[in-house]
Amino acid sequence: MSNPIYSLQVDLPCSGIDRSYPIIIGHGVLSDSERFAALLGDSPVVLVSNDTVAPLYMSRVRDALGQGRKVTEVILPDGEDQKHLMSADQIWQKALEYHHERRSVFIALGGGVIGDLTGYSAACFLRGVDFIQLPTTLLAQVDSSVGGKTGVNHPLGKNMIGAFHQPRAVLIDLDSLQTLPDREFAAGIAEIIKYGCIWDPDFYHWLLEHSDALLTRNNEVLAEAIQRSCAIKADVVAQDEREGGLRAILNFGHTFAHAIEHVMGYGVWLHGEAVACGMVMAAQISATRGHVSEEMVIGLKRFLETFGLPVEPPSTMSAEVFLDAMAGDKKVVRGKIRYVLLEKLGDACLVDNVTIDEIAQTLAK
Ligand SMILES: NC(=O)c1ccc[n+]([C@@H]2O[C@H](COP(=O)([O-])OP(=O)(O)OC[C@H]3O[C@@H](n4cnc5c(N)ncnc54)[C@H](O)[C@@H]3O)[C@@H](O)[C@H]2O)c1
Repeated sequence: MSNPIYSLQVDLPCSGIDRSYPIIIGHGVLSDSERFAALLGDSPVVLVSNDTVAPLYMSRVRDALGQGRKVTEVILPDGEDQKHLMSADQIWQKALEYHHERRSVFIALGGGVIGDLTGYSAACFLRGVDFIQLPTTLLAQVDSSVGGKTGVNHPLGKNMIGAFHQPRAVLIDLDSLQTLPDREFAAGIAEIIKYGCIWDPDFYHWLLEHSDALLTRNNEVLAEAIQRSCAIKADVVAQDEREGGLRAILNFGHTFAHAIEHVMGYGVWLHGEAVACGMVMAAQISATRGHVSEEMVIGLKRFLETFGLPVEPPSTMSAEVFLDAMAGDKKVVRGKIRYVLLEKLGDACLVDNVTIDEIAQTLAK
């Protein structure tokens, strides 16, 4: 078994049943046949990917799974617009045709779309089979693969159909980032800085100091950034698996981001791009309320801009447009829009009292 650079554990103590699982971060993880053997035993596998990632990485995973194992491959078309029930049905169809059983394990090889879709398919197949995440985008490595939220989109809303279903393991191969387009890489960086903002000021400052190394995808720095991000997400999820409270702070920047994605049309702005802009807006409101300094907001903007991330919303979006779009969000509780603001750097809070004037003021900055 290859030695990982980092290995951490997601502990889920709430249920009484041990569902904790490892996150392995290293090089050559996708080809590590011994690790797959240890995780899977002789279980059959349904290996799901898309037509962008499969040509790059499917063969090394298939080889690592071993000759003697039953492996059923499902390769879906690429794209967020494929994250719907019919794609899940394609996975179920193939799994049934090939007589998969309860001890079969679904494996997701790809970004957040494949991860969410495969996880959801696993949650429902035969009332629930195990699955393993092999995230290949930076966003999936630091965010969507960890924490057990799975699901698909519905014509009436994004991620509206889903289940909490924790993976058996998350295996992060740093080598897969070398083929990731710059824009997708930057989208992942936005989620990484989010963790510094909401949880760990030292990490925030460390990221700002290492922005050049991150930009050139320096392996050592990236590995540390991914590990620290996963550790924070694991910590938050361990305390609040089903988003009863604390977990909602992971949505820092997301209320505004979802409004931008909704108004612009999904896919026009990448999710991480919208989150970057949304974080600046939330940080600016926090600064206006006196919770963080204006310098913090300037530093955040400069960091995001280094990666080509947008820090201002589209000029067509007024405060009224934002409010309208946010009213339909999942984050609305009892008719009130919930925002994540910063109490101070590294400490987030949930509020529902952001006014239209505050949003307008932020847009005017
Ligand atoms: N479950 C959660 O907690 C959670 C959290 C955040 C986001 N999400 C979901 O994640 C999805 C977004 O994930 P994403 O940003 O990874 O998008 P994605 O899965 O669409 O991947 C982005 C693009 O990169 C390609 N790609 C993936 N890995 C590659 C590689 N190594 N080299 C080259 N190309 C590669 C993909 O084929 C795709 O074209 C959304 O559907 C979002 O709702 C879920």
